[in-house]
Amino acid sequence: MDLLATTTRGLESIAAAETDRLVGASPHVHHPGWIAFEGDTEDIVTLNARARTLNRVLVSLVDQSATTLDAIGDATESVPVADYVDSGQSIAVESTRIGTHEFGSPDVSDVVGQAILDSHRRATGDRLPVDLDDPDVVFRAVVRHDRFTLAIDTTGPVSLHRRPYRVRDHPAPVKPTIAAAMLDIADADATTTVVDPFCGVGTVPIEAALAASGRSPNAARETFAFQSLPFVPDGALVEYRAGHESSDAEPMVVGADSDRSCVRAARENAAVADASVEWLTADARSHVPAADVVVTDLPFDIRTDHGDLRPLYREFCAAVADSAADRLVALTVRPDLLPLDIDRSYEFRDGRLDVTIADISL
Ligand SMILES: C[S@@+](CC[C@H](N)C(=O)[O-])C[C@H]1O[C@@H](n2cnc3c(N)ncnc32)[C@H](O)[C@@H]1O
Repeated sequence: MDLLATTTRGLESIAAAETDRLVGASPHVHHPGWIAFEGDTEDIVTLNARARTLNRVLVSLVDQSATTLDAIGDATESVPVADYVDSGQSIAVESTRIGTHEFGSPDVSDVVGQAILDSHRRATGDRLPVDLDDPDVVFRAVVRHDRFTLAIDTTGPVSLHRRPYRVRDHPAPVKPTIAAAMLDIADADATTTVVDPFCGVGTVPIEAALAASGRSPNAARETFAFQSLPFVPDGALVEYRAGHESSDAEPMVVGADSDRSCVRAARENAAVADASVEWLTADARSHVPAADVVVTDLPFDIRTDHGDLRPLYREFCAAVADSAADRLVALTVRPDLLPLDIDRSYEFRDGRLDVTIADISL
């Protein structure tokens, strides 16, 4: 079947490489933030249970040119909905629209919803219930300029980037999926020692420790949308999890922050994640603990007491250059302030900020 997955815009190549490693697919970029590939129901379970850089996994049902509501409705009616939804299951349609059209997203939801009900009734004689609050099956309709894509969400309302271990938050946290992508960029594996000297509540070190020991960042998550989909076998998640447990590798990961309360919160998150990390309270301007690679999300908020970022960046980079590390992968809003040559940059938008992941050989 045709599958789609969403990720952070700008990090599609990393998400595609991870998808290939996990399920042996060769995804291509469908549109910004979306990758497309062929797969089966096992792949749906594997990616939801294990992916570190994906937000959602979807089954593509329609992917074609359609510029009018009639064309969108016709394309949807041709989908054999009864193959994907059982009579009695409730449905909802969530639509997004990008570009200039003579209709809005609510119109798309109405037309697609009606066509889904019609297709199902033609095949079964039954009318599917609609439940916009707690549906069994969510159809996602995307109208992007002249292209219409309709897909079934196999992940659910909670994106995979919302890790169950993050019980303590930070005013400026990095998305765990972005942290995982940074570790991929750093080529961190089970034999690499990793340090994050600005660790906040520990997202990068926890992702590093889980990845190094082959454990899923969503191991504690109990609910995925695919569990209600009739074409995914019952018990597939339990079976998958039973067959894929962690390795014995003892990760070598250090997290440090100058703020004691952050380090305390990071320890709590790591305890929930059952991630083995060494935590320190330290000032990254004077000391970067020894490691092969430094992977970090640099302070950026010039309205806080960090003041001018220039001296902080300068002193941190001098401390990194003096450390044992031979590579720095840093997320920053001010790559221009890094007094080091950047080998590769990944630029993207994170919320309201334009950010860069800078990959630097030391
Ligand atoms: C952008 S936040 C990191 C957030 C983190 N990635 C997370 O997900 O929680 C930057 C962190 O740098 C810390 N920090 C600021 N100046 C520091 C310094 N000189 N040495 C070490 N940590 C510092 C702040 O306390 C803050 O937690």
